[in-house]
Amino acid sequence: MDKTLKISKIKEGTVIDHIPSGKALQVVSILKIGEDLEGSISIGMHVPSGKLDFKDVIKIENRYLDRIELDMISLVAPDATISIVKNYEITEKFRVDLPSRITGIVTCSNQNCITNRREPVSSEFQVLSKKPLQIRCVYCERNMSDQEIFSSM
Ligand code: CTP
Ligand code: ZN
Repeated sequence: MDKTLKISKIKEGTVIDHIPSGKALQVVSILKIGEDLEGSISIGMHVPSGKLDFKDVIKIENRYLDRIELDMISLVAPDATISIVKNYEITEKFRVDLPSRITGIVTCSNQNCITNRREPVSSEFQVLSKKPLQIRCVYCERNMSDQEIFSSM
């Protein structure tokens, strides 16, 4: 008897693979999953990856991701791969790409920053480092790290 637990393949949808172990729930919280989802979401956490490593995996049936979702995922999981599945086959596979500038996704932690005023200025950050994530507001030059970024998202 095969006692290993496996997550089923999906017929249609998106697989987000190679998420750092422990980050899957953060990625799920990014996805705007509503009542209208016609399918299941499977989450695999601490799944063996290679000989010594572990990763998280998310499979979403009948749902594809938009540019903003992909950019946000790249902040949490810079090495994630996205596979688009159609009729059980992978029709497209790519790595998320952390942009060198992040516009309109993260809120600056500086209350006095112009992007937090009523001014119609959207936030903009320069990516200083990917691992660990470090970004700098281009308006007030406030640096933000991993924790602050995700508590603001
Ligand atoms: N997958 C799926 N349903 C399908 C096809 C693929 O859920 N119908 C999933 C696989 O389980 C895997 C991911 O999509 O988690 C990528 O599939 P594939 O490229 O075939 O796997 P690997 O070659 O192992 O990928 P990698 O080299 O990126 O680890
Ligand atoms: Zn700022």
